[in-house]
Amino acid sequence: MGERVKIVEVGPRDGLQNEKQIIDTSIKLELIERLVAAGLRNIEVTSFVSPKWIPQMADQSAVMQGLKTHAGVSYSVLTPNLQGFEAAVAADAKEVAVFAAASETFSRKNINASIAQSLERFVPVTEQALKLGLKIRGYVSCVLGCPYEGEIDPRRVAQISKEMFDMGCYEISLGDTIGVGVPDGVKRLIESVGAQVPVETLAGHFHDTYGMAVANVVAAYALGIRTFDASVAGLGGCPYAAGATGNVATEDLVWLFNRTGVETGIDLKQLVDCAVWISKYLGRSPQSRVAQALNSTRAAPVNIDPLKLL
Ligand code: HMG
Ligand code: MG
Repeated sequence: MGERVKIVEVGPRDGLQNEKQIIDTSIKLELIERLVAAGLRNIEVTSFVSPKWIPQMADQSAVMQGLKTHAGVSYSVLTPNLQGFEAAVAADAKEVAVFAAASETFSRKNINASIAQSLERFVPVTEQALKLGLKIRGYVSCVLGCPYEGEIDPRRVAQISKEMFDMGCYEISLGDTIGVGVPDGVKRLIESVGAQVPVETLAGHFHDTYGMAVANVVAAYALGIRTFDASVAGLGGCPYAAGATGNVATEDLVWLFNRTGVETGIDLKQLVDCAVWISKYLGRSPQSRVAQALNSTRAAPVNIDPLKLL
């Protein structure tokens, strides 16, 4: 067997959370079904956060209720505190994610808590999750820069990641929330965090604000990272990081890995159809170059089959 990566689809949550127009629950559920049909096996479907803070996610319980069960598919949800966790458990969540930041100011803006307070809040959440046999993932935001504080020391990211890992998070997703990272910084970051937390338990979560996300994925892959978060059509943005745009597009990653001979388990054509469908619903074109190219009659060279794994 060749190399394989795990792609965590965050479109239904990170991708949609910043959309101004409230999207019908049925559209979110159809998006999730189309992602499953395209081969995604790990999908972050919603967040149990305050509807006053993130109105788009106010239908979280309805989304959970409408999910279809598929063998091998794991749905996860964000839970910022015990209140969100308990609501997620009541909605039958099997995997949850807690989210901290490596920037004090961002932490306060995003979850109204200092970094230390947020980590304290995660203790009972992780304890409960482990007791109930739920998987728990940890996020650290602003790992390569903060919209309020600028540069972030990788040692700070390493320290917070380790605390979350020691609490019982099975995976730590490193978030370049505002997409300011470049491969050199990614290397320093992963070397620093990898000294505290096993590299195989780290995930890359790159936003593509400056067009560097794919380059950052390549850099992270070279350092042993095998899990990447991505959002179909490059949807997304963070409401507490002005100017932040979407995650790296899932189809850009599938194209990259297909043509590198790395298995993703995802059908590129079905994924691009999904990207076109959700973008049309939102009244725009897909953000990703791959979806644009594959939908253009001009782009693909005739002697390359872009849909096949090399
Ligand atoms: P708070 O106002 O500090 O909470 O919010 P509180 O404990 O003081 O309670 C105030 C009110 O909120 C109360 O209601 C609580 O019931 C309610 P009231 O009595 O006023 O009616 N409340 C909740 N309601 C629903 N769900 C909950 C919850 N907790 C309290 N879980 C809180 C604290 C964390 C809830 C709030 O700040 C919040 O919801 N923030 C939203 C954070 C968010 O979703 N950000 C975007 C996701 S993170 C991200 O995108 C980054 C990532 O992608 C990685 C990367 O790119 O870097 C993951
Ligand atoms: Mg994000």
